[in-house]
Amino acid sequence: MIVTNSALAIEGGKPVSKEPILIHKPSLLDEDVQAVTDAVRSTFVSGDGPACRQFEENLKNYLGVRHALFMTSCTVALDLAFRVKDFPPGSEVIVPNFTYTSSALGPLLNQLKIVLADVRPDNGNIDVDKLESYITPRTVAICPVDYAGNPPEMERIMQIAQKHHLFVVEDTAQSIGSRYRGQYTGSLADVSTFSFHGTKNLTTGEGGALVTNDDRVAERIKILREKGTNKYSFLTDQQTRGYYEYVDIGNSYVQSNINGALGVTQLARLEAMNRRRKEIAMYYRGHLTGISGLDFISVEDDVDSNWHLFGILVPPEKKYWIMDALRSEGVMANVHYTPLHRNAYYQQLGSDEEFPGSMQFFNRLLRLPIYPAMTDLEKELVVEAVIKVFEHL
Ligand SMILES: Cc1ncc(COP(=O)(O)O)c(C=O)c1O
Repeated sequence: MIVTNSALAIEGGKPVSKEPILIHKPSLLDEDVQAVTDAVRSTFVSGDGPACRQFEENLKNYLGVRHALFMTSCTVALDLAFRVKDFPPGSEVIVPNFTYTSSALGPLLNQLKIVLADVRPDNGNIDVDKLESYITPRTVAICPVDYAGNPPEMERIMQIAQKHHLFVVEDTAQSIGSRYRGQYTGSLADVSTFSFHGTKNLTTGEGGALVTNDDRVAERIKILREKGTNKYSFLTDQQTRGYYEYVDIGNSYVQSNINGALGVTQLARLEAMNRRRKEIAMYYRGHLTGISGLDFISVEDDVDSNWHLFGILVPPEKKYWIMDALRSEGVMANVHYTPLHRNAYYQQLGSDEEFPGSMQFFNRLLRLPIYPAMTDLEKELVVEAVIKVFEHL
């Protein structure tokens, strides 16, 4: 272990890194720029263009699923994932308490009621041991989340869902390229929703995809995301010689061909980008293991993570001091998700005591920088800074 013994930057000492090491940077190369330029020059810049279709085809083949539908965000994919089922208003959907607001917005935008579920204190994923206790006669769906790219115990979740006849929407916003028991996330639930926001492992700027093996769900989503029209089949099958029809209500969630072009080049590099993330994660784990007071987010043996985030669990009473000390050293460590019930809109839905796992995880979690373009020097400086700060704890 490196022993630094020097004064902390937060107390006036010399920082480990003069240049800040950011928490995240998108990986955008010349080939991405070229693809966007080509799309713009093609003049096909509107929605559901040839590059979008190509991206959908490649994504579908990569994940091993029947349908991958590109759209403007994971949030709209979640909205449509619940809209497509026409559940009676007021039906209940179980959503983990430790997640981004969008997992709850999907049901809420469809007049469904969310029931917050506690999460595991060691990895922030829905606590499957408690799951059945949230099920009532009004429950229609579960929305597990792959926190940090790390899928929860999906086999048990799907078994519980089957037993109670529940629909499962897996919020895979963070987990593109992660595998659970050898299968890519996206192929595990009834419907899965990816995000391609600028912070994600694969980015199209903003963007998302709804993925499913259910043909009927996919056919209706194609209509719902295209303003309630049957333009998709009109374009694909040239079913009519006239104009496409307005067959349902819907919204405009198709994604521009410019973003589609980015999706194609990003997906082609996804495995390589995720491999680099894994190298960095393994380096952190190798060099930070054994530090008193520091644990890692637990990843089960049957998960091959995409390392979307690298989280450390630290003593709760020191969390913000550690974050500030790391930042002073030039390592832009960050906190993440405030549990939903701690936010103004969701505060009626429970108290800290009702979500002990979620509170324990949140109170201990800090994120360290991780992204494919990180240099070896940067990853070494991160480790050096963490060791230095923990020596002074
Ligand atoms: C778990 C989860 N769900 C949904 C989203 C929303 O994704 P988007 O910004 O693509 O709507 C995010 C964004 O970070 C997320 O982390």
